[in-house]
Amino acid sequence: MGKMRTHRKSWALALGVFLAAGSAGATRQYRGGAVATAHPMASEAALKMLNKGGNAVDAAVAAAFTLAVVGPYHSGLGGGGFALVHDAKTGETRALDFREVAPQAATRDMYVKDGKVVPGLSTDGALSVAVPGAVAGYLELLEKHGKLSRAVVLQPAIEAARAGFWVSPKYQAIAKARRDCLGQDPEAARIFLVKNAEGALEAPPIGHQLRQPDLARTLTTLAKSGPAPFYTGALAQAMVDTVKAGGGLITREDLKAYKTRTHAPMEGSYRGHRLLTMPPPSAGGVAVVQTLGVLEKLRPQGLAFRDPEEIHLYAETLRRAYVDRTKYLGDPAMVQIPLERLTSSGYLADLAGSIDPKKATPSVSLLPPGEDAGGSTLKKPDAGWYDPSTSSEKKNTTHVSVIDKDGNAVALTTTVNYGFGSCVVAKGTGILLNDQMDDFSARPGVPNAYGLVGYEANSIAPGKVPLSSMSPTLVFSKEDPKKVMLAVGSPGGSTIPTTVIQVISNVVDQGMDVTRAVGEGRVHHQYLPDELWVDQWGLEAATLKALEAKGHKLRRLPAWGDAEAVYSDPRTNLRSAASDPRNEGTALGQD
Ligand code: DON
Repeated sequence: MGKMRTHRKSWALALGVFLAAGSAGATRQYRGGAVATAHPMASEAALKMLNKGGNAVDAAVAAAFTLAVVGPYHSGLGGGGFALVHDAKTGETRALDFREVAPQAATRDMYVKDGKVVPGLSTDGALSVAVPGAVAGYLELLEKHGKLSRAVVLQPAIEAARAGFWVSPKYQAIAKARRDCLGQDPEAARIFLVKNAEGALEAPPIGHQLRQPDLARTLTTLAKSGPAPFYTGALAQAMVDTVKAGGGLITREDLKAYKTRTHAPMEGSYRGHRLLTMPPPSAGGVAVVQTLGVLEKLRPQGLAFRDPEEIHLYAETLRRAYVDRTKYLGDPAMVQIPLERLTSSGYLADLAGSIDPKKATPSVSLLPPGEDAGGSTLKKPDAGWYDPSTSSEKKNTTHVSVIDKDGNAVALTTTVNYGFGSCVVAKGTGILLNDQMDDFSARPGVPNAYGLVGYEANSIAPGKVPLSSMSPTLVFSKEDPKKVMLAVGSPGGSTIPTTVIQVISNVVDQGMDVTRAVGEGRVHHQYLPDELWVDQWGLEAATLKALEAKGHKLRRLPAWGDAEAVYSDPRTNLRSAASDPRNEGTALGQD
């Protein structure tokens, strides 16, 4: 408490000095709407919609379609995702789930042979593809909540596909990491790779202009006809033919039966701010609500900045939240989830009470009772143990945050899962298909591409939605619980919820502006592996030592996540936005 006061005072002092010294480089503030996305062309598309009189939904959908063109390594028409949409007029928030579902022919052990998970089968190629939801989701958002026409909103994406975009360092890095996978599919190789002088396939050079005429045609069809061609027409047939030829399972019936789902947003609160986030099939929202709830109980006055005692509590809370994920979470349409209990004040108090402030709880002691598979997981059984330091370039996802001038807000996270998804492109359409099947637990206790371990709740079944970490989140003003103050989200697989939690804490506990909140170093724990991950800007050496002394096993990693956030100041009603400095995005707004 005393520490908090001192901390607050020194922060106020620092802020005063900063302001007195002039605010060169300060976060720009906008009177109009603002947007943050992972690619400049997507942010420009969103801003264009706002400038045409569109609302936050028009802007977010234009950005999402553009990202499908310029960021094929993270999202696309063949993927799926979640969106929170807040309507300032009615004060209502909708959680739209357009995540992929398992095809009807999917089976529990489809990736297991001779009792072992076959490496690559759930991440590379046609068998890894789940029925895509992005097209249904984006177009439903537009139809139900947008103001502009499909033709206007899809125009920037069509233009980007036709004229092309230049290959960035990030594109190149992920294309390099996925070169072999892309090389397996002649259509994907033709579009996303180039041939070198020896005729071998490789990632295109930085600056190479990458055009996608097939995708431009597909987008034009969607602009004209809506989602029907994708789910029941010629595009559906192309996807089915390609997937079938590659040994995958998706049929015309699967596509025809695809439906988005609307959920009540998951509600929580943090230090007087109402939070709305994504409920299951996202496990992310539950972790956000639980972790912030426990931290508030443990430190009612706020968290001191980068204090080892506080980082310890944060890590221990995450460890417990990820245990609950492992035990309970899956597709809510197929699994009974004790959601109310898991987020109730009493339960959060129990979690808080189970934390030893002096030392780390070994994850092995928290394994679900009777789960021998979990125990053997720690002995690294058959699928190869997860090594975050070698897998960082292969994965992706993307997030769009928008708050418009009227206070409407969208937080939309969307993905094809791994970098370039399954690496399969439906012939002649430019549609790159996801590998979202990997988000199921292929076998109880065996970690997936993000090191996440799941059990029965997240096992594969026909028509089931795989559990996700994606956590689009809206934080509301203290003064007006219907007014959005912060829209935030990130990629990063298992690290998504913790990135979101840290951005929120940086704003609420530390009073940081949105640029600083997004740029701060990150710390992550996910129960298994039993390691505390610290990014290169994460913590000072003395703090690391103090954490080690408490029994945490530390792992330094370069960087993860790509937080995209928009802040609307409840007092001034000015907006500011930030795109993660770790990546290549941009934040833009209207003067
Ligand atoms: O839905 C999920 O949790 C994953 N498919 C997200 C993948 C991801 O964020 C990869 N990012 N770096």
